[in-house]
Amino acid sequence: MLDTSLEQASVPNARPLEDMFDGERFHSDLYTDPGIFDLEIERIYHRTWIWVAHESEIPNAGDFKTTHVGRTPVIVTRGKDGAVHVLLNRCRHRGATVCDRNQGNARAFTCPYHAWSYGLDGRLIGVPFEEGYKGILDKKNYPLVSLKVGLYCGLVFASMNEDIEPLEDFLGDAKPWIDLFLRQGGGFPVKVAGAHKFRFTGNWKIQLENTTDGYHFPFVHRTFVDSLPQEMAKGFTAFMREEGPFVRALGNGHSVAVFFPDQVDLSQDDDKPIPPQFEELAAQLSRDYPPERVRWIIRAINGVGFNLNLFPNIGLSAAFLRELKPLAVDRTEIRHMALVMDGGPEEANRARLRIHEKFQGAGGFGSPDDMAAWERVQIGAGARRDDVWIMLNRGLNREARDGEGHLQAHVTDETGMREGYAMWKRMMVQ
Ligand code: FES
Ligand code: FE
Repeated sequence: MLDTSLEQASVPNARPLEDMFDGERFHSDLYTDPGIFDLEIERIYHRTWIWVAHESEIPNAGDFKTTHVGRTPVIVTRGKDGAVHVLLNRCRHRGATVCDRNQGNARAFTCPYHAWSYGLDGRLIGVPFEEGYKGILDKKNYPLVSLKVGLYCGLVFASMNEDIEPLEDFLGDAKPWIDLFLRQGGGFPVKVAGAHKFRFTGNWKIQLENTTDGYHFPFVHRTFVDSLPQEMAKGFTAFMREEGPFVRALGNGHSVAVFFPDQVDLSQDDDKPIPPQFEELAAQLSRDYPPERVRWIIRAINGVGFNLNLFPNIGLSAAFLRELKPLAVDRTEIRHMALVMDGGPEEANRARLRIHEKFQGAGGFGSPDDMAAWERVQIGAGARRDDVWIMLNRGLNREARDGEGHLQAHVTDETGMREGYAMWKRMMVQ
């Protein structure tokens, strides 16, 4: 890992926040200033909706996972009554975390320090040797602190802000795209099949930008493209030149990049022949499913033809979810969750997982190449001479509004990133 923290810590931030992004470029202090990072945690991660789980990660009563809202550890639980709770992972006694497992099933959480125990909804249910608290501690006043929870189509969000707008309002025009994304189950619901995580030496916004960055693909991912059969490889570079692929700003910092417009709604039969690499699989599926369903399942194997970026921490891309966690100004954790068809044919799910591994997997072509580029951005952003701005103006010459008023440009343009930074500015400048 490349260590850039020393140079960055010495760069003072003297510029007012409102001057940091002018719609066309932003100051590279946004990647390197620890003071700005702390403010981002407070003004963005503690004020808006943060994605914390997909419901399929906690399907049964007692299921839980641990994660973070900003840098704050939380536990996402499924209560006995099926309700989803998001609890601060912090004992009310002396502050220890009460759960250190990534996920599992539990009836209660017992703090390892002095064994106070808490129910799935956070209630304090047990205090050992309680006589020391007689008359001075009422258990009902000391539950694990609950965050506000919002659910949309299986996506679980939490907020530290009690006055936050309803989740559906925040998602706004991204909602129809979430609905389209979820039609990749070939008629089955989608579920998280597993996840892997990795960390890179760079600012969280570098990853946020990347989800709708169509411009980098044929360059950073050349080894991936070169590894594909010729016909398939052509498809992965053709979107650079074609007119149809687009990126669209969806408001509230959200955006979508459509690389393959004919793979936006996978529930629509496109009459295309089954690709040769899936012919054998289609023949197997035909034993159990009618032809239209076989076609839908096959269409769904690669996932959707777009990346949806939900500000500030979750991407819904192709056939996986990508969560980002800001750890420090120059340190970010990424968690990739592979999606499969819940109850769907095993052979088809296996094919989806192999495709996921080849690009997103820890030993795949995509993620390591992306990470190398992001780390170079972080190092370069710390290089100071006269030009300290990051350009974000690609496509301003051809950006236009669609019928619903969203800004839209070619998929290689930076419209989605400008939307993200416009939201960043609204939340950061007070
Ligand atoms: Fe949790 Fe004491 S810190 S019981
Ligand atoms: Fe990439």
